[in-house]
Amino acid sequence: MGTINHPDLQLALKDFLIEEEKLTQVVYRMTKEMKMGLSKETHARAAVKCFVTYVQDLPTGKERGKFLALDLGGSNFRVLLVIIRGDSDLQTESRTYVFPETLMTGTAKELFDFITECLVQFCRQFGLENEGLPLGFTFSFPCHQQGLSKGTLVAWTKGFRVEGVVGRNVVELLQEAITRRGEISVTVVALINDTVGTLLSTAYFNNNCRIGLIVGTGTNACYVEKTVNAECFEGYQTSPKPYMVINTEWGAFGDNGVLEFVRTPYDKVIDKETVNPGRQTFEKCISGMYMGEMVRLILIDMMAKGVMFRNESSEKLLQRGSFSTSYISDIESDAPGEYRMCNKVLHNLGLRGNQESDRLNLRYICEAVSSRSAKLCACGLVTLINKMNINEVAIAVDGSVYRYHPTYPSMLEHHMKKLLKPGVKFELVCSEDGSGRGAALAAATTVKNK
Ligand code: BGC
Repeated sequence: MGTINHPDLQLALKDFLIEEEKLTQVVYRMTKEMKMGLSKETHARAAVKCFVTYVQDLPTGKERGKFLALDLGGSNFRVLLVIIRGDSDLQTESRTYVFPETLMTGTAKELFDFITECLVQFCRQFGLENEGLPLGFTFSFPCHQQGLSKGTLVAWTKGFRVEGVVGRNVVELLQEAITRRGEISVTVVALINDTVGTLLSTAYFNNNCRIGLIVGTGTNACYVEKTVNAECFEGYQTSPKPYMVINTEWGAFGDNGVLEFVRTPYDKVIDKETVNPGRQTFEKCISGMYMGEMVRLILIDMMAKGVMFRNESSEKLLQRGSFSTSYISDIESDAPGEYRMCNKVLHNLGLRGNQESDRLNLRYICEAVSSRSAKLCACGLVTLINKMNINEVAIAVDGSVYRYHPTYPSMLEHHMKKLLKPGVKFELVCSEDGSGRGAALAAATTVKNK
């Protein structure tokens, strides 16, 4: 980042430039919180839940079969057909359906009927109505699983607030909706988180893969833990299988106040605006659902103080959510000294930005928000790698922020290297269609185990 000339802007961005000492402290605190989540005794009151996923085997490449998969949890809803032929041969057909925003705050029946409607359409299109296919369901919200095909929703995140789902088994809700509709023969056999899907689909090709990370609308990670440490799993001491994939649900880190030392006043404003105030503290500092809004808040603050875009006003910018997170990626993809994308963004917002300093400062704001996100995310990954105590690991990553922000992967890598013990090697692998393929692979293990 260059030099910020204006003292007010400098002050506003100071808190985003978290120094290394504080990052080390974040790792330390997260380690503690994760241990609480894993332990039977403290799990109930832990903020970072570290849910047992019941996924104990990573794919071997030998899985076979034809599966349906559903992917719900970000801005799109998808249905997939995955044909696994073995020897790393995965063939996928998928359709993306527009997810009506009204469903995010509707009722359980509306939500599951919509999902079933899309599934029926998809099955008709591919002539799969009567094949009795097994289905893997990627449902990217915190679930307390009681088995691979049973899990109750603990809380909604990412702006969802559908009535009648919290505390219910989502597999049952989906299966009931399919039965109610009565047009297709499909059995839901696996419920997984998107982080787990990402891990599984990459592990299929890469046998060093032990972590699945999402930095998209929301953020979260899963990792491979020793079964003996997964105390909330009934058979943790006697299981013949040595490993258990743990869904950390790290988005909730800080919900008990332990992250206050890195939060900024803007984070508090964001939190108040959301449908789940006080919840998903770490996620709100990191993920795509909030980054653009963070930039917008800083920007209107700077405009109100007369620091930026003097004598200009933008009705649009005053609207919540008007600064899309994708604008951050756009602005940061301009070469230094160039403002092609930046000008487009300004135009969209109805701003002229005649002063070069305005455009430069806007870039600084974007950089402050995205680099803080990458730093905190690096802390999370370092916590997991330290916890596993391994010297080499591949990390499967997916999500729009990671994929589309021009420097996010390199920032993440840079900060991880600074925080990790010397000699620990890691590789960030961008996962292709993890949620969908992963759900099919999870479904495949259930069929194999029968
Ligand atoms: C959810 C996680 C999910 C993550 C990424 C979070 O809001 O709680 O379950 O993995 O978003 O989609």
